[in-house]
Amino acid sequence: MPIRVVSLKDERLDRKVTLAFGFLSFIPLLLIMWAFIQFVFPYIRESQGTLTFFIIGSIVSIMVGYFVLKRTIGSVMEVVHQARVVARRQGGEAHDPGEGDEISELARTFHRINQELEHKITELESSRTLIKRLLSQIGTAIVSYEGIDNLLALIMENTAVALGAEQGSLMLIDGEKQELEVKTSWSSHRESLTAQRMKLGEGIAGSVAKEHQPIRGTGSSSSVGLVNGRVKEEAILCVPLMIRDTVIGVVSVVREETARQFTEDDESLLANIGSQIAVAIENYRLNLDVERTYLETITALAMAVEAKDPYSAGHSKRVGAYAVQIAEAMGADETTKKMLREGGLLHDVGKIGIRDDILLKASELTPEETQIMHQHPVIGEAILKPVRSLSKVADLVRHHHEQFDGSGYPYGLKGEAIPLEARILTVADTYDSMVTDRPYRKRLSCEEAVDELRRGCGKQFDPQVVDAFLRVLAEKRERASHAV
Ligand SMILES: [Fe+2]
Repeated sequence: MPIRVVSLKDERLDRKVTLAFGFLSFIPLLLIMWAFIQFVFPYIRESQGTLTFFIIGSIVSIMVGYFVLKRTIGSVMEVVHQARVVARRQGGEAHDPGEGDEISELARTFHRINQELEHKITELESSRTLIKRLLSQIGTAIVSYEGIDNLLALIMENTAVALGAEQGSLMLIDGEKQELEVKTSWSSHRESLTAQRMKLGEGIAGSVAKEHQPIRGTGSSSSVGLVNGRVKEEAILCVPLMIRDTVIGVVSVVREETARQFTEDDESLLANIGSQIAVAIENYRLNLDVERTYLETITALAMAVEAKDPYSAGHSKRVGAYAVQIAEAMGADETTKKMLREGGLLHDVGKIGIRDDILLKASELTPEETQIMHQHPVIGEAILKPVRSLSKVADLVRHHHEQFDGSGYPYGLKGEAIPLEARILTVADTYDSMVTDRPYRKRLSCEEAVDELRRGCGKQFDPQVVDAFLRVLAEKRERASHAV
């Protein structure tokens, strides 16, 4: 009969310990008993009770030792069990208990839990960085007066990434039509998402806007205003953007796999971000309203100044129009043209601070009066400066009487030290003044005014600006001759 070697490798830890304990205690016990019988017993053979007491005592000691050891091993087994449960909860995989004993398994499980924790810590660190960046962007947006569209796009992207989403949209309610309109959207695939409008109550976004309640669930991304050509169920989270009790829009994030549903924590995070976005948008709108009102007031002031002098009726608008034509001929962008149109309209607004007896004087001004009159660009700048969107216009108003050779006012700037837009405004202003009647002189003909511009090249005027204006005037003449 072959001898079978029994492997203890796959046995439970407590069985192994029991066997080991039995083996380890059996031989010492025999030795102790043998020694006792050989050396001690002859002296105490009369005392049978002492022998019995010694044997029973030894057996009880071994049993107590075994019991204590077993309890200790039981605790280790419990730790192994608990670690296995935690590992399963984290990783979802069952561990193979047959591979090595419980101590090995405990070591492996702890290693695995440690790896999971490290992974989670890395994820948390990355989320923390993202949320920090996001809050900083929202903070910038809250105090932003311009360029909020770009900021909202960045906020949308970072919000979606922080929430592990592949798409996101921010929709605002168009007050007049009572419809939701996509203000900005983002996709991790960098695909173009055809934005669409939605009625209140329509789709997930429409329902959230109508009911003022967040929705977390499953649906198509088109239900939150995103049309990407794919028609499939996705995990969606959509929260309202509220200002006090009024909803101004919704913000949504989309995960492409429905298995990755959004949690309550995700909803709470998006709701917090949403309330900050709503404040930023509201602030921006309030700022716009304030600026619009201020601009209207300033424009009314400029018109009031113009109305004082019948000779200058329509001058400001014409200066703005000429300046835009020159800028166009020089290849300027839309922002510059808008600035010049506003600059033309407002360039003499500072005259509101000049006394009427000087402003409307028909004869030549005295040196003192001239000095007072020369303050109007600086007064104009002071009026426009508080409007952030007009800060650049304020710069050209300040410099619209500077001359290319440095002989102008208020600062005597020379050449390119004068902003190009101000150099353009100077040419447009002077030309319009020359071709209109003034109390102290008759208007010049267009040809005479052009001659004056040519004579002033490099002195009063920037030659490249005059060249551009001459091209504009030549084209106008040509068009006029064709029309005739
Ligand atoms: Fe002026």
